[in-house]
Amino acid sequence: MSETMRVVEISQSGGPEVLKPAEREIPAPGHGQVLIKIAYSGVNRPDALQRAGMYAPPPEASDLPGLEAAGEIAAVGPGVDDLEVGDEVCALLPGGGYAEYAVTPAAHCLSVPKGMDLKLAACLPETYFTVWSNVFQRGRLQAGETFLCHGGSSGIGTTAIQLARHFGARVFTTAGSPEKCTKCKELGAERTINYREEDFVEVLKAEGGANLILDMVGGGYIKRNLQALAVEGRLVMIAFLSGPKAEINFAPVMAKRQTITGSTLRPQSDLAKARIAESLKAHVWPLLEAGTVGPIMDLEFPLEKAAEAHARMEGSDHIGKIVLKVA
Ligand SMILES: NC(=O)c1ccc[n+]([C@@H]2O[C@H](COP(=O)([O-])OP(=O)(O)OC[C@H]3O[C@@H](n4cnc5c(N)ncnc54)[C@H](OP(=O)(O)O)[C@@H]3O)[C@@H](O)[C@H]2O)c1
Repeated sequence: MSETMRVVEISQSGGPEVLKPAEREIPAPGHGQVLIKIAYSGVNRPDALQRAGMYAPPPEASDLPGLEAAGEIAAVGPGVDDLEVGDEVCALLPGGGYAEYAVTPAAHCLSVPKGMDLKLAACLPETYFTVWSNVFQRGRLQAGETFLCHGGSSGIGTTAIQLARHFGARVFTTAGSPEKCTKCKELGAERTINYREEDFVEVLKAEGGANLILDMVGGGYIKRNLQALAVEGRLVMIAFLSGPKAEINFAPVMAKRQTITGSTLRPQSDLAKARIAESLKAHVWPLLEAGTVGPIMDLEFPLEKAAEAHARMEGSDHIGKIVLKVA
């Protein structure tokens, strides 16, 4: 194995053009970690936020972008006894996915679902960890409940629609074009709302309100989300594409016993992420293996063209996940 690897690094904070190919030393796995030889890496909005200087990596993580990958175990660190060199995995990474090799805790690796190729498997970890922990664990979505998912055509949205539908919720979703709305319907949304033409508050109020809203937009949506929530409804914030600030009248929140919460995945402890992985293995991986739910992929770009991948994502023409081909 050569000692250096091809990577794409963030040369300075800025637009997609600051993503530059470079050479780095191959990292060594520490205690409880594995080294993955990456075949494909998933591209996520948080990578673009990091590139823009708005989402710093946790202290011990690689400064390279990339939160998920699929490939083959190339080395195992001390204390790893359930994975071996040569095993194929997809894994949540603390960073460092835009590279030929990356290290991550063994407990954050999941098997490649039977019958799925590595390209599709690379689309799974970041969105499935995020959706499972925010919609089903934090948001406590139950069968029969009404769920509103904003950004339904995003990597997160396409995952949330399928899982929520499978677990028996009524799924409503916003998206920014007729084509995106059609895809959301195909994935299981009962009602799609093109937010450029319709008001999601009116649609949800006519249905008795949403029991759970997953929001990545923020800004003016925060107040409107609370108006669209039912009694005992929960609002889970996972990003603020339109900004984090809002002026809220909390009296209805109290009167309707609503909950406002949210989370980010990356800064959570290794143990917290390992627990999400265990829950995914038990409840979601069988669905992926059965083909009941699955990743929705947009385009593939070579690793060296990560800047083009980011431009595509920020142009918002994509539906589902964008992937980098590394090997
Ligand atoms: N908290 C966490 O742990 C965590 C983890 C992963 C991702 N995230 C966040 O989740 C979001 C989705 O991530 P992703 O990787 O799946 O990104 P993505 O595919 O780029 O999705 C962003 C989506 O937001 C939609 N959008 C933008 N403005 C909107 C508006 N006003 N109303 C409704 N939808 C709007 C865009 O589509 P339209 O064309 O429909 O506008 C697009 O589908 C990102 O904001 C990301 O930062 C959070």
